Amino acid sequence: MLTRRQFVAGVVAGAALASAGAQARYTRKLGTAAEPGTGKTVAVRLSAAERPNALPCFGGRALPLWTFADGEWPPLIRLNLGDRLEATLENRLPRPAEITSIHWHGIRLPSDQDGVPYLVQAPVRPGETFRYGFVPPDTGTFFFHTHCNTVEQLGRGLVGILIIDGDTTEPYDADQVLVIRDWHVDPAVGEFTPFFTLRGAGRAGTFGPLRSVNGAVNPEIALPASGDCRLRLINADTTRVMQVGVEGAEAAIIAIDGIAIPPVPLSLWPMGPATRIDVVLRAPQGKRIARLVDRSTPERVELAHFVGNGEPLRKSRFSPVPLRAGRIPEPDLNAATRLAFAFHASDTGRLVAAPDDSAYGPLGEICTNSRTFWTINDRAWPERDHSRLPPPLAVLERGRSYIFQLKNNSEFSHPIHIHGHTFKLLRSNKQNRPVHHTDTLLLLPDERADVAFVADNPGDWMFHCHIIEHQETGMMGYIRVA
Ligand code: C2O
Ligand code: CU
Repeated sequence: MLTRRQFVAGVVAGAALASAGAQARYTRKLGTAAEPGTGKTVAVRLSAAERPNALPCFGGRALPLWTFADGEWPPLIRLNLGDRLEATLENRLPRPAEITSIHWHGIRLPSDQDGVPYLVQAPVRPGETFRYGFVPPDTGTFFFHTHCNTVEQLGRGLVGILIIDGDTTEPYDADQVLVIRDWHVDPAVGEFTPFFTLRGAGRAGTFGPLRSVNGAVNPEIALPASGDCRLRLINADTTRVMQVGVEGAEAAIIAIDGIAIPPVPLSLWPMGPATRIDVVLRAPQGKRIARLVDRSTPERVELAHFVGNGEPLRKSRFSPVPLRAGRIPEPDLNAATRLAFAFHASDTGRLVAAPDDSAYGPLGEICTNSRTFWTINDRAWPERDHSRLPPPLAVLERGRSYIFQLKNNSEFSHPIHIHGHTFKLLRSNKQNRPVHHTDTLLLLPDERADVAFVADNPGDWMFHCHIIEHQETGMMGYIRVA
């Protein structure tokens, strides 16, 4: 799909990328953590409904998306640190039994606002409303999505972006949101493809064939030429784990899952579903083009490209301005309690994932009886049903520090998400990543990683894989903090 000229440019840019990764780290330090102001109240109405939408990536066809609001997809809510969000969710979904809720992903909020049906609130039935209200405690790039039948509801578009401002130390020259996701849409036919397949659920998930950024295929994004531009990358996909990089420009990561890190060069960063990274990119100038690419597959995929507009802004060497430090409590590693969590395929899941196709055929009947392909510590959430709550996976003492020793005992990747808290990554045996905070840690096949946090938020908190088909076929549980 790339022209030959684009391909050659990409190869040259790729070489530049490799050398950029080898350069010394940037030296500028994080700013002091932001202090929340007294804040105002921001009221929004999110009405989940079917709205035909002709996103540019659908090639002129309108598809029956499920969205939260009229107008641009996805909706963006922007607050200052200290502001209170009052969000009224209204369920106007077109199916009589389609219950819903909103989970504010990555926000450390009171548990009754966390949006998990049955666990912390009654599901919102068609015709009903539910009011959420909370003051987000952290600055950064977050998002929200429904937490019911998520594979289809998120698959059809029920997602929004939540940005909490107050984290900059100096202004950037632009602030651009990039919502990256696939659509389960066959571009030739213009219809939805299955959101869930047994075979996908037992493996890496069912991929949507149509890839997009901000609802367009490889959009051209204009930035101020030679400006240091903040890009907020959000993997809003249900399934795909990407390896994201930038070609043709210098770029640095300044935050992961909303929380600042001292800038590091962006060579490739793994972005599983729900991962956000904030990047500063020195925008191209003149006729140059920079590219956002996914290198998770042998044929690299260009997700979006950037051009520079206007007179070049900056001439100085690229030295990305850091954000303010995050406000996540520091775990006490000496006093921390260690808990081990192993992520496995169930026996059924192993059979479904068997490389030998013939093994899969006769399994159909088994699979319909028990769609639990995945487990956490050998336990699967009962049969794709939120309403029958199993006991918690662990009960934590409020205020204590914990080290979770996560182990992926399967051949597939699992982005592991905890609600209401933010992990600090301590170490991994497979990926060399800087120390950072994350609410969704990607575990590669056979990876072991230790994460730490202070269990300071009382309540029941979901702990699950964010490949939604894995979550919905068993790799889901909850942690009680009491
Ligand atoms: Cu973004 Cu429980 O999920
Ligand atoms: Cu998974």
